[in-house]
Order: sequence, then structure tokens, then C-alpha cells
Amino acid sequence: MQIVRQLDPLRNALAEFRAAGLTIGLVPTMGALHAGHMRLVEVAQSQCDAVIASIFVNPTQFGEGEDLDAYPRQEAADAALLEAAGVKLLWAPTADQVYPPGYATNVSVSGISDGLCGAARPGHFDGVATVVAKLFNQVRPDAAFFGEKDYQQLAVIRRMARDLDFSHEIVGVPTVRDADGLALSSRNAYLTAEERADAVALPETMQEAATAIAAGSPVADILSDAKARLLRSGFHKVDYFELRDADTLALLDDFTRSARLLAAAHIGRTRLIDNIPVS
Ligand code: PAJ
Repeated sequence: MQIVRQLDPLRNALAEFRAAGLTIGLVPTMGALHAGHMRLVEVAQSQCDAVIASIFVNPTQFGEGEDLDAYPRQEAADAALLEAAGVKLLWAPTADQVYPPGYATNVSVSGISDGLCGAARPGHFDGVATVVAKLFNQVRPDAAFFGEKDYQQLAVIRRMARDLDFSHEIVGVPTVRDADGLALSSRNAYLTAEERADAVALPETMQEAATAIAAGSPVADILSDAKARLLRSGFHKVDYFELRDADTLALLDDFTRSARLLAAAHIGRTRLIDNIPVS
């Protein structure tokens, strides 16, 4: 596996893949890889000839006081995992290859970026849309792979790709979970043992709420009960616990076939997010 940090060698390597007739799959990440990321790689391998993973801890998607400095960085271990999974190239750009001096352009996807995590993390999705648009231009993949774990992010990227005429496929991959149901996340590493044990309340509460909503119970009551339960179970703040349309992310008051539950809540110093279909 090649590890590439500068744009010129990246373009040369990609030109060689294309000259050999290989289709290119892109898996963007911020590193600290776990089985969720590796599932994206696996799906990419099944659909494309050459898989490119990127690792870039993108400063523009972190707000003030967020965990940019603390974000886990373990590139050697990540590279070993990617190589073992058959990834052809790791794009691990230096910051100046992504944001050269005088960088002044921002990609902002209005509407779909606004509620949910966009409300709790102002500017976050502008940073995501901007860096993902740049990664798409740098790599020009045939398909790019993103996790449903970050459901609003996936929706923002789909809309951005459509609006800006990126014609490659955007593939959404279902969330990979630990045995007890907690969605895998690089940020789970921040949890103490006690918090990790309590954190299972998030997927459990969501699953029970989804079942009750699908059975026709009043949505507003279920959502407020669910938030109260999280606050009794070790979480100290619930940013949101909402029923939304799976495609448009419009708020729903009642159950529909395309309903999705999305939640974000704080435990200790860690903010966890999750989402599940209601069916
Ligand atoms: P990161 O948090 O490293 O996640 C990289 C990709 O892995 C995202 O598409 C995310 O949804 C997916 N992922 C994370 N946990 C997952 C899980 N448990 N199951 C399935 N997929 C999972 O998301 C980002 O990085 C960044 O915002 C990025 C898109 C790279 C832009 O900087």
C-alpha cells in the first residue's frame, strides 16, 4: 500500500490506476480506525477495483472547544489495518495540501445541515461538505463510501454531490455496532469503563422508542420519555432525540414508512450520536 501525502504523487498514482482500467473507490476517514471504518473498506472492495482510503483530521469541521487536539491519532496502526484489508493507497495529506495558505472557499449545504447536529455544532457541516468536496476533486473516485452512523452527514454529502454535479455514486453503509448494540465510534475511546457500560442506554432507548412508534404510540410522548430515560441512565445532556424523514430529514410528528430516529447525547466528556430506521 502506498502512503501519499502530496497532491502531485496522488494524481500520478491515480492516473496509473485509471490507465490500468481500474475503478476507484474512496473511503474518507479521520483515522483512529475501527470495525465500522473497515466495513466501509470491505464494501468498497466489493464494488471497486482499487480502494483509496483517506485519513485527515479536518480542522474546519471542529468547533471551538471541541476535541480537535484530543482527537485520537494513530496513523501507523491505521495504515497496517488498511494494508491488511487490501487498500491500494492511503491518502494522508498534510494540512497545506488541503488548505493552502490563503484558502478562502467554503461549501455550505443549507437546510439539511441546519437542525440535529448542525444546531449543536454550528459550522460543522460546512467543514464536512468543504473537505469532502475537496477529497472528491482530489481523487475523482467512481464511488465513495460513507457510514449511516453519521446519518445527517451522509444526507448532507448526498445533497452536496447532487447540487455540485459530482456524478460518482455515494454509497451509504449500515452502522456497525458492538455486541451490546453501541455504535462503534472513534470517540468511544474517551469513555470510562462506567460510562461505556451506561452508554448502551442510547441504542436500547432508541430501539424501544422505534418499536413503540411503529406500534402506533403517540410520538411526542415516546420522545420525551426516551430523553428522560437517557438522563436517568448516565447521560447528562440530550442534544436531540427526534423522528425525521429518512430522505429529507424533515421533522415528523407521526410514524411514516420512511421514518428514522436520530439522537445525540452527552455522557461524561463524550458526545455520542446514533440513528435507526423505524419500521
Ligand atoms: P470518521 O468519523 O473517521 O468516519 C469516517 C467514515 O466512517 C464516515 O463515513 C462514518 O460515517 C463511518 N463510520 C464511523 N463509525 C461507523 C460505524 N460504527 N459503522 C459504519 N460506519 C461508520 O465522518 C468522518 O470521519 C468525517 O466527517 C469525514 C467524512 C472523513 C470528513 O472529514
